[in-house]
Amino acid sequence: MQNTENAMKNRSTSQHLSGALHLTGKSRFIADEAPLQGTLYAKFLFSPVAHARLRKLDISQAESYPGIYKVITAADIPGQNMIGHVIKDEPLFPTLEIMYAFQPLAMVLAEDERCAELALAQIKIDYEELPAIFDPEDADAREMWYVPQRKIENGDVDKAFAEATYIMEGKTSNSGQEHFYMEGQRAYAVPFEGNRILLHSATQSTMEVQEVTAHVLGIHAHDIVVEVPRLGGAFGGKERAATIWACMAALGAFVTKRPVLVQLSRDEDMHATGKRHPFTSLWKVGYDEKGKILAYDIQLLANGGAYSDLSVAILERAMFHSENAYHIPNIRIRGRACLTNLPPNTAFRGFGAPQGIFVIEGILDKIALQLGLDRLQIRKLNAYRNGDITPYGQEIKASQMTQIFDHLSQKADYESRKSEVETFNNKNERFKRGLGIVPVKFGISFTTALLNQGSALIWVYIDGSVSVTTGGVEMGQELSTKMAEVVARILGISTSRIKVESSNTQRVGNASPTAASTGSDINGNAARIAAEKIRQALCEPAAELIKQEHELDVKPEDIVFTADMVYSHAQPDLCVSFIDLIRFAYNSRIPLAAYGYYRTPQLWFDRELGNGHPFHYYVYGAALAEVEVDTLLGEHSLRSFHIVHENGQSLNERIDLGQIIGAAIQCYGWCTMEDLKWNEQGVYTSANPSTYKIPGIRDLPEIFTVEILPSQSTEASVFGSKAVGEPPFIYGLAVFFALQDAIRKVNPEASLSFPATPEALLLFS
Ligand code: MTE
Ligand code: HPA
Ligand code: MOS
Repeated sequence: MQNTENAMKNRSTSQHLSGALHLTGKSRFIADEAPLQGTLYAKFLFSPVAHARLRKLDISQAESYPGIYKVITAADIPGQNMIGHVIKDEPLFPTLEIMYAFQPLAMVLAEDERCAELALAQIKIDYEELPAIFDPEDADAREMWYVPQRKIENGDVDKAFAEATYIMEGKTSNSGQEHFYMEGQRAYAVPFEGNRILLHSATQSTMEVQEVTAHVLGIHAHDIVVEVPRLGGAFGGKERAATIWACMAALGAFVTKRPVLVQLSRDEDMHATGKRHPFTSLWKVGYDEKGKILAYDIQLLANGGAYSDLSVAILERAMFHSENAYHIPNIRIRGRACLTNLPPNTAFRGFGAPQGIFVIEGILDKIALQLGLDRLQIRKLNAYRNGDITPYGQEIKASQMTQIFDHLSQKADYESRKSEVETFNNKNERFKRGLGIVPVKFGISFTTALLNQGSALIWVYIDGSVSVTTGGVEMGQELSTKMAEVVARILGISTSRIKVESSNTQRVGNASPTAASTGSDINGNAARIAAEKIRQALCEPAAELIKQEHELDVKPEDIVFTADMVYSHAQPDLCVSFIDLIRFAYNSRIPLAAYGYYRTPQLWFDRELGNGHPFHYYVYGAALAEVEVDTLLGEHSLRSFHIVHENGQSLNERIDLGQIIGAAIQCYGWCTMEDLKWNEQGVYTSANPSTYKIPGIRDLPEIFTVEILPSQSTEASVFGSKAVGEPPFIYGLAVFFALQDAIRKVNPEASLSFPATPEALLLFS
């Protein structure tokens, strides 16, 4: 990590505000505290089959089992048995049709967990099994889609194919990915006065949990208070998928008037929750002898699982990213979100973009191989330039793709690395090395335009300490540090004066999920606006106080807030402290709180026309990976990994660096080791760390450099910063293509299957 350290050396960046708490085990998560007296523990009866007609659930014996307080089923729901959000297709408990294995059918509430578990066996399910579908192609053949096919088209695709020198066709598939957040799904519902519920939920979306729960209980949203201290990781797995468990806890508490704790075990969590979408894509590409792509036709099939969840939005983002960083003049992108009998697949870092990008990157490598071209050159040739228009009509205005490629080539010593690899491969039979290159152009904004809004509430207390609540949820991305930094900059105080609070619907309502990498953009801007209001209100009292203390006449508009001090910019030495100013302002009856609201400007997209301006801006970058494969054992080592990432004016470079590394390694896991399988019953056979391998510290590359390129991008967000949560996930794909490159030294025709596990590698070598 040496180079990275060097790159960071001269830039100031403040502390990670949760770091010490995490390291000392003092950060608090839901249900970390001792449960309240009277708490009931929930356990679920999960469906043993993937698809069935549900005839009857007999709970009578379970209910009379010792220690059992109540068994909850659909019959206990006072409101609507519906948790579907965008498309209303998902019941809390199925009543007629079981749609996936491990679908919760009933909830046992008991005085302790063990009792609840034992009672589950006493519930009798009468069902008639139905044929189940797990493959999106099978679903597609039966036209089992949640919504009709989506299409984005630009140029004259058929004409371009007719004129192209070369044409290639193929099919590309990727597997799913388990989120493997450290904190599993959980919720703790505590009833309070009247019919109200305080709902501690491990969710990325307080608004959705509040709205859906209120709907299920048949009460108002204001009767549900959703509280999220922080999450032990989410990665998209708690954007929508947390709602069902929150609803369960709330329903239990509502019916019994006792606190109810829902906490899935790792096995239950991995069996019952949806994952990253496997996609299968059929494609056809037309290109010339230089490797310039002239026509591209792709049909993306997303394996959505049993209910729509976020699948349509994920499919849409996959479509928006299916040309990745390349300008393809004639393009037809079709997408279908297919209904299958797996747990509803859901958001996962990248939100469809990795699936779309995987296809085109594989195609570029194939074209380069066929034409004998350099893989970096062919990418540069096809890369977007400013003024180009994306397939959906958005103009590329601040692309630095060419510079990024050049920078990467230089940083990674591409030319000599390439010849070293060649020399090595010529000398070695058993061990083969390979290189992989993947750029990224990632669109920032929720593609559901209405979600691009955020709010913040700030209180300055009379001792000058500050409390900040935004709609954002802390999940390890250290949004809190960034929010504190934004407020600190505006008020000119140190971040140690600021507490960023839990997310809570009473303090900030109607919050969009913390997702789409927009957390710091939309909440940070809302916090900036709120802090600016407070600063504005403080200018007048500041001028007065300076006058009182220093007998100096200053104009309110000349007041500067910096380093915990306040002064007129004409007379920096005659200052007052921020603390004194706050006390004075309070005494002068000046409001010391503000609410800030922000919406991302100029976003629109017409789904009928497949045209619009869905993204506020793009994040660009590129990665180069080098691997060595043992063709006898199928094992590999990641010899080097170089990343160049364009980042605007970072709010906190160390946090961004952590995001870049974490995301890239998470994708490395997805495409090389996380082998997610299900059996003929549609039950995931990988359900814990012994059957599902995620990357560990020993999987880090031997050489790993991350170069964060600051830019003056005028399109960026709060203080010129750019979103960082998801885009760097894409870099991990470079390892897959490096492995494929190595294997092609043995078998030039090889198309590695996904993920590139040792078994997959052995198949071709
Ligand atoms: N980083 C950590 N440590 N834990 C997480 O759960 N989620 C990722 C990313 N980085 C995640 C993370 C995902 S999927 C998203 S969308 C963003 O963080 C959300 O946070 P942000 O918008 O504030 O960056
Ligand atoms: N990303 C993440 N979550 C979302 C999106 C998106 O683009 N749209 C709706 N939910
Ligand atoms: Mo991230 S997948 O948008 O939560």
